[in-house]
Amino acid sequence: MIYMDNAATSFPKPPEVIAAVTAALAAPASPGRSSHAASLAAARIIHKARKNLAQLFGLANNIHLALGTNITWALNQALSGLDFKAGDHIISSSLEHNSVARPLNRLVTEKGLLWETAPTDGQGLTTPDDFKKMLRPSTRLVVLNHASNVTGALIPAQAIKAVIGEVPLLLDTAQTAGVFDLADAGQWVDLLAFTGHKGLLGPTGTGGLWVGSNLTLRPLIVGGTGSASKNLTAPNFLPDSLEAGTPNTHGLAGLAAATEILLKKGVKNIHRHEMNLTSIFLDGLTQIPGATIWGPLNLANRLAVVAVTLRGWSSSDLSAALEKKAGILTRAGLQCAPLTHRTMGTLKTGGVTRFSFGLFNTAKEIDIALKTLDQLAQTKH
Ligand SMILES: Cc1ncc(COP(=O)(O)O)c(C=O)c1O
Repeated sequence: MIYMDNAATSFPKPPEVIAAVTAALAAPASPGRSSHAASLAAARIIHKARKNLAQLFGLANNIHLALGTNITWALNQALSGLDFKAGDHIISSSLEHNSVARPLNRLVTEKGLLWETAPTDGQGLTTPDDFKKMLRPSTRLVVLNHASNVTGALIPAQAIKAVIGEVPLLLDTAQTAGVFDLADAGQWVDLLAFTGHKGLLGPTGTGGLWVGSNLTLRPLIVGGTGSASKNLTAPNFLPDSLEAGTPNTHGLAGLAAATEILLKKGVKNIHRHEMNLTSIFLDGLTQIPGATIWGPLNLANRLAVVAVTLRGWSSSDLSAALEKKAGILTRAGLQCAPLTHRTMGTLKTGGVTRFSFGLFNTAKEIDIALKTLDQLAQTKH
């Protein structure tokens, strides 16, 4: 198997992550609940995950980092937790994943919010100026997919924050966390959402939301937190207010181990490796007759997620043929991002085949992918 679907979930998981999950599963785990040694040990694991994540994202205050099941939870928590009123205006990029688009659409239909998407150019790039022009007195939030999960296009999120000023920025780091340096994000992001199982190399079922000290969120769910238990209302302090229910301790143990690896390796080094692979792949693709790259060609504007179509092939047939011929795993179709495909013009043509590289891919694997694509380009099917 040649795994090129890291934008869906990263693979393989490092042995340290598997060992940490297994060890945590073999121990009793009710962190923050009981006062016995096993409960305290579980709480220490979660503390380690929170501390490592805070370091990766440059967060001064890791108490404001709520841990949950994935970024879909985090984005829903952020969008439903802000106190929006009918007529409030929200701006997003036009490259949002359905985990932002669907909650936003619900706010439009159920609460009467106004949601506008910023324009992009032919390569799917957005400029801060576009956002500046769209600001209104009623703009309450800007939401950005930091990097497209279809084309790899990077959004200049920090520069956009500089022009939107006091308007809070909610950043979806699903495709950037762990693979793009976010070590100062705490200084310019207001709400930072992440998922644990992609570039952060952790298990599925982990993720979280960091809440800037200027914001208060209404909890998406309420329940037991092991704190302020005599009250029938949720605690009013973070992270407990957003962490009702027994946490996924073994998943978070894996995430603690994974983030330890990232801190040791250095996200900048991981980024360099992935961009080297991307550069080889993009160069090779330009030599393949009938291959089209959707998204930015300049490495500075993108990550290691590459959208490809091949003349004569549907995206799903191409993905299936790559797997059958060479064991290459990719993702076809719309990648849960119809807005992006609408923006690119690939919504009605069945989407693209997405290659996404990770820490464990090699140049040899890129070479095999290019050779296989070249052979398929010359195959009648
Ligand atoms: C940009 C983006 N946002 C959100 C998500 C949702 O991630 P999860 O399923 O881990 O919640 C994804 C996953 O594909 C994504 O690529």
